[in-house]
Amino acid sequence: MNILYAVSEAAPLAKTGGLGDAAAALAKSAAALGAGTTIIMPHYRDIPLEFKREFRLVHTFEVQLGWRRQPCDLLAGEVGGQPFYLLDNAYYFGRSGLYGYADETERFVFFSSAVVAALPYMTEQPDLIHCHDWQSALIPYLLKTRAAEEPTLPPIPTVFTIHNMLYQGRLPLPLMADLLGVAPEALTAETLELYGEACALKGGLLYADRLTTVSESYLDEIQTAEFGGQLDGVIRSRREDAYGWVNGIDTDLYDPMRDPALTAPYRNARNKKVQNKQALQRQLGLPAEGDRPLIGIVSRLTSQKGLDLIDPVLDELVGEDAQLVVLGAGEPDEEARISSWMMRHPRHVVAVTGFDEQLARQIYAASDMFLMPSRYEPCGLSQLIAMQYRSVPVVHATGGLKDTVNPYDPGTGQGEGFVFTELTPEAMLEALRHALAIYREPEQWKGLIAAAAKRDFSWKKAARRYVELYRELLHQRKEKI
Ligand code: ADP
Ligand code: GLC
Repeated sequence: MNILYAVSEAAPLAKTGGLGDAAAALAKSAAALGAGTTIIMPHYRDIPLEFKREFRLVHTFEVQLGWRRQPCDLLAGEVGGQPFYLLDNAYYFGRSGLYGYADETERFVFFSSAVVAALPYMTEQPDLIHCHDWQSALIPYLLKTRAAEEPTLPPIPTVFTIHNMLYQGRLPLPLMADLLGVAPEALTAETLELYGEACALKGGLLYADRLTTVSESYLDEIQTAEFGGQLDGVIRSRREDAYGWVNGIDTDLYDPMRDPALTAPYRNARNKKVQNKQALQRQLGLPAEGDRPLIGIVSRLTSQKGLDLIDPVLDELVGEDAQLVVLGAGEPDEEARISSWMMRHPRHVVAVTGFDEQLARQIYAASDMFLMPSRYEPCGLSQLIAMQYRSVPVVHATGGLKDTVNPYDPGTGQGEGFVFTELTPEAMLEALRHALAIYREPEQWKGLIAAAAKRDFSWKKAARRYVELYRELLHQRKEKI
């Protein structure tokens, strides 16, 4: 089976968060189970040259966007054994960074349209397209519309994965209708209309053959008004076709034993982890004290991540004599927030703004605790990476965080993290204080690390489920033909 993964980012070519990790690692793990996998994504200007070099032009064609025709190049190449297609259009993607432009929705309407328009030029036809998040959510809609207009074309089943329900790709109805080349009246509540606007995400939710999201708890949460972003009813209407499967991480790429970013390779050896801690402390100008507890944060900076909870309790946290190292990129207000922590407590806090893969890995390795006070978290990969690097997660009980971190129980010695239920600064501080108290009891702390060491964070389980799902859909298609 040939599976095409349509996604707006994939490591190592382009990544801003977990979506880029998840798409690449799933494609790799499904391939290990025998599927043919190819990733298709935009050709961003910022893709490093070393990767761009691997690509060759397959075909130049035009993409019809309403009355406009946009040129598009289909490029093919392989990076680290993984086949990729890139769609190149200088107007939409010849810009710095991945996201954050005023015409964001239009750019990815173009991307989704271009994926469908590129199908005839692909060397091997995909048997199934697996789309991710709103940026590729119009593909199932476009394929179903096309199938209705041209019934002789072979149907291509689709799977749509929700990594974040609150990024939706909304546009005024007439604008979306114009881009899709349909009459505004065609965008009704039964199609892409949502509360008076057009919504790209709804295209995936309604038209894909199956839906998945990245944890069981998030699947429950998005069926409520609080987390559903006005689409909870749509998800409820497709409950029978939707699954909540927790992501894994690529355990080859995230392996503290083989991570070139680290000073001292390790797996469970405490003294080696301390060497990494001291190296980072020195590098960042913090007192290089191996015993001092170090709390790490590596995060996209958006309100989703709940970092505002830290403001009112930072003094108390620093009063516990802990160090805090934060790396993040995103919204300017949030960047200012983390910088203000460092100004308040320069001897205890270091905040680095920007996207830095190497520093991120050094923080996972150096930290004793990894803090994620997310308001909501569909899955969360950072807590998995943290556990893999034997940094103990302290997390809010939401979505995938709740599903992947077992709270430590001092009575039984079970569990590998600290979980707080109420989303308040006080509850978070209490969980951190609990973690710091256990940290000061080395025997108990060892137990937490040992519990993390027993866990399997790989993609194995989830990839098997996905491949099984692809098989089922391909079998159904065969029966239909
Ligand atoms: P989300 O996808 O919501 O950003 P996840 O926890 O699923 O959250 O994944 C985040 C991924 O992005 C992890 O691999 C994390 O290490 C990485 N990451 C986030 N911010 C940065 C940053 N500023 N620099 C480097 N890596 C980052
Ligand atoms: C999204 C979510 C995150 C999830 C990631 C990969 O970015 O915010 O929770 O881990 O996608 O699925």
